Amino acid sequence: MNKIEVKKLTVQYRDGNGVFTALEDLSFRVEKGEFVSIIGSSGCGKSTLLGILGGLRRPDAGELSIDGKKVTGPGPDRSMVFQHYSLFPWMTARNNVAFGIRQVKKNLTRRERLSRAAVFLDRVGLENFQNKYPGQLSGGMRQRVAIARALAMDTEILLMDEPFGAVDARNRTILQELLLGLWEGNCAGDIVYPPGEGPRQQDRKTVVFVTHDIDEAILMADRIIMMSNSPGKIYREITVPFARPRNRAALVQTPEYTKLRNELLVLFFNDFGSTI
Ligand SMILES: Nc1ncnc2c1ncn2[C@@H]1O[C@H](COP(=O)(O)OP(=O)(O)O)[C@@H](O)[C@H]1O
Ligand SMILES: [Mg+2]
Repeated sequence: MNKIEVKKLTVQYRDGNGVFTALEDLSFRVEKGEFVSIIGSSGCGKSTLLGILGGLRRPDAGELSIDGKKVTGPGPDRSMVFQHYSLFPWMTARNNVAFGIRQVKKNLTRRERLSRAAVFLDRVGLENFQNKYPGQLSGGMRQRVAIARALAMDTEILLMDEPFGAVDARNRTILQELLLGLWEGNCAGDIVYPPGEGPRQQDRKTVVFVTHDIDEAILMADRIIMMSNSPGKIYREITVPFARPRNRAALVQTPEYTKLRNELLVLFFNDFGSTI
């Protein structure tokens, strides 16, 4: 079942120098419970696209539908995680998460919001840092707070724009596995399955995850949408056939992984001559 559908999207930026077409005639679908990664070189329009999906920007042409209904603005069905933490510096980790909860769960009391925030900070391993301010946390920890906030909002759709792009390599792999584990184990929202009981695919959150890291895309995604540059278009859609739950250490040693990775690298470097 389609969760997100984008049809013939065109986005232009206008400034003193004229009109710049950032996205042109771009169409794709994301199924309910699917994890889609969007990869493309810097400047190809990934953030612009995610802004449209989040309803932060309206397209110049084309349309966005969610659950078959045309959408033109933000909504309680979507939450976003950005590369640069986007936390309020004057609020503690817990209050940042509680603030996000308040945007979508209007009927909860302050006490309920705070206790819910604590549950989700716990899930991302920050049980002992709830009362710290963003300035007192490392980059990786701040991004955990942003993930906790998005998950605590329990929206059906998660939109993530290079969420680990500013995190060092080691913490990046830890955060990838954390997010993957929560999403695959269906702890990404209110339903929590007992250990060993897997969720059905359609019960999972629908995720659109922007990255320029091929390994990250393969590890996480069911499908990779590769964009081309100037103006941004869909270049290829590649299904990632690996079973879930995925284990990075085992997966990267398989010949199938290497083959897919090489195919993706060839597409990128040969077809665009670009670096990613
Ligand atoms: N507010 C803006 N005004 C003018 N041009 C913009 C604006 N935002 C983005 N662009 C341009 O649109 C293109 C796509 O940008 P962006 O969506 O941020 O790409 P990506 O996230 O893939 O790096 C880039 O060439 C960028 O310079
Ligand atoms: Mg971007």
